[in-house]
Parts: sequence; C-alpha cells; structure tokens
Amino acid sequence: MSEATWAAVDEYVLSKLIREDPSLAAAMDDRRAADMPEIEVSPIEGMHLHLLARMSGAKRVLEVGTLAGYSTIWLARAVPDDGCVVTLELDPKHAAVARKNVDRADVGDKVEILEGQALASLEQLGAAGGEPFDFVFIDADKENNPPYFQWAMRLGRPGTVIVVDNVARRGKLADASSDDPSVNGVRQMFDLIENEPRVDATAIQTVGARGYDGFLIAIMR
Ligand code: SAH
Ligand code: DHB
Ligand code: MG
Repeated sequence: MSEATWAAVDEYVLSKLIREDPSLAAAMDDRRAADMPEIEVSPIEGMHLHLLARMSGAKRVLEVGTLAGYSTIWLARAVPDDGCVVTLELDPKHAAVARKNVDRADVGDKVEILEGQALASLEQLGAAGGEPFDFVFIDADKENNPPYFQWAMRLGRPGTVIVVDNVARRGKLADASSDDPSVNGVRQMFDLIENEPRVDATAIQTVGARGYDGFLIAIMR
C-alpha cells in the first residue's frame, strides 16, 4: 500500500460523493495563484467538516486558521442563513484572499474574518462575551494548540464540538522524544485533554490526498 493508492481512493470517493462547486475549486486556484501553501483541507475533508458541523446542528462556528477560506466555505455552508463562521487569520494576505473567496462562494455575509494573532482575537471574543460557539475547528500554528483548545472550551458550551486538524503528522504524534514544536504542541494538547473532565474526545488517523495525518474530535460535557 502506498500514497498513490490512498490518492487513488480519494479520487474515487471525490468523483462519487463530493459535489465541489466552481467557487470551492476557485478558492483553491486563488490560493495557488497567490503562492500560499497547499495546506487547506482536501475536498473530502472539507465535506467531512461540513457534515460534522451539520450533524451537530451548529449555528455559530469558530475557526482558527483561515488560509484562503477553503474550509471556511465548507463550514459556512453547513450553518443556517442566520448562522455564522468567525475565522481567525494572522497573515493579512491570506485574510484578503479568503475574503474574496468567501464572497465569491456567496457566504460572505455569514463569515467574519478576524485578522491578527489568533490568541489576541480569542481574548477579544472572550471579553466581548457573545453567544457561545457550537462548533470549533482548530487548524493554525500547531504550537498553540493547547491554548486554542482551552479557548475553544471557554467560548463553547456543553455540547460544543471541537475538531483539531493535523494531529497524527505521519505518526510523529507517538514520538515522545520529538523536538518538533508542532508535534509537541499537539502532544501538549493531548496532555491537557487527558486531564480534562469536561470533554470526551478521540483521534482518528487518516490517509488520502494529503498523505497520512489525522484529526481529533471532542465534545464538551
Ligand atoms: N483551515 C484552512 C487552512 C489553514 S492553514 C483550510 O483548511 O482551508 C493555517 C493558517 O493559520 C495559515 O493561513 C496561517 O497564516 C494561519 N496562522 C498561523 N499562525 C497563526 C496565528 N498565530 N494566528 C492566526 N492565524 C495563524
Ligand atoms: C500544515 C498545516 C496544516 O494545517 C495542514 O493541514 C497541513 C500541513 C503544515 O504546516 O505543514
Ligand atoms: Mg490543517
């Protein structure tokens, strides 16, 4: 078994199940054209996020890490017309490309992009004391996964679903002696959840167009 096999199966599933409309494809094209890294979720993972958000009945979604807004569009399409996605992005260039992409996808009025350090934006959201978020997708700098997860709980409520991307990292998750700050960020988040009675969680390893990785899924008690 090889990455080629995983990609072939992804291609098959994509062709059968995923209706990727032109504005989603255009969002990926614009990310490429703007020389931004190819690190958005794959179409299959985008649909996966979309389904999870719909299954949870989410109305208010928080996303940490926007890039070009690809996952943002999948999430925005999962919430009702009076729902919203608040998405946090450090890089002004990424935020600008994302703005264009979500507008073209006709979900612009549901999406708020907060530019700047995610930790600062989360602080602001906490101070603003708005309605809790129903669904949180964490997909930014992995070193900060522990505080992002803590913020997700603080800004959530019982029943809030928290999904964290890229937790398996080609198996590096199991390497206790890793000196990779991203791996250690993910592992410290696991340490935190280990001692956190307020959430039930699991992690699923995945293969596909984006190689071997995985996601964590949690629900607040
Ligand atoms: N969720 C996107 C991919 C996000 S890639 C998708 O699947 O389509 C990660 C993004 O997080 C990048 O755009 C990067 O600029 C942003 N990022 C990295 N560090 C950050 C920080 N400290 N605060 C906010 N955003 C950050
Ligand atoms: C990277 C980040 C991601 O969010 C992702 O889905 C894949 C790769 C990265 O920083 O390498
Ligand atoms: Mg990711």
